[in-house]
Amino acid sequence: MKMITSIQEMMRESERLREEKKKIGFVPTMGFLHDGHLSLVERSVHHTDVTVVSVFVNPAQFAPHEDFKEYPRDIQKDKRLLEKMGVDILFCPDQEEMYPEDYKTFVEVHGFQEKLCGRSRPIFFRGVCTVVLKLFNIIRPDTAFFGQKDAQQAVIIQKMVKDVNFPVHIEVLPIVREKDGLAKSSRNAYLNSRERKAALVLFLSLKAAERCLKNGEKNSSIILAEIKRILDSEPLAEVEYVEVVDPRNLEPLKRIKDRALIALAVKVGKTRLIDNLTIGV
Ligand code: PAF
Repeated sequence: MKMITSIQEMMRESERLREEKKKIGFVPTMGFLHDGHLSLVERSVHHTDVTVVSVFVNPAQFAPHEDFKEYPRDIQKDKRLLEKMGVDILFCPDQEEMYPEDYKTFVEVHGFQEKLCGRSRPIFFRGVCTVVLKLFNIIRPDTAFFGQKDAQQAVIIQKMVKDVNFPVHIEVLPIVREKDGLAKSSRNAYLNSRERKAALVLFLSLKAAERCLKNGEKNSSIILAEIKRILDSEPLAEVEYVEVVDPRNLEPLKRIKDRALIALAVKVGKTRLIDNLTIGV
């Protein structure tokens, strides 16, 4: 596995690969890799000619009061995991390389970035879109892989590439869960053992929603009430939002017809966790 830290070198490498008619698969990450990331990497390794993984903890998507400094990092372990999986290139630029002092350009997807997580994290998707579009321009992938766990992120990235006509195929892969159902996330590392147990309530509440749907319930407010009832039964959980939205535009849905995204964000102790359930997607 080649490790590249310079944008110029990554661009040269990508140009060379395209000249050789290689299909480039790309998995953007902030490192501290878990099985969720590795499922994306595995898919890329098996379905493209060359896999590039980026590890970059993107300061632009953290508000000043958020956990940029504490965000877990272990580049040596990430390197070992990626090497073992057959990744061809690890791109890990530093902050100065991605955002030099005179950096001024940001990407926004209005009407999408303000919803769901955007309400409590107003600069988050602007930071995500900016770094992802930069990485796309540097790496020029044929296919980029994202996890369904970050459902809003996946919807926004798809909208961004469509709007700016970026020639990349976005593949969104299912949520990877711990044995008990908790969605894998780098931030699970923040949970102490009591909080880890409490965090399961996110999954349990979505399971209850699934049961409602199986019984034929279509009314969003009834499904949301059931989810909230379960989340509220956990004293360590503080609900930020639970919503039923259209996965195409993130607009709230009163009734579930064909497609729906049930998304939630909950604080367990100081750790903010997200999870979701898709219907018909
Ligand atoms: O999902 C993430 O880890 C990040 O938001 C991403 C896409 C790597 C951009 O920094």
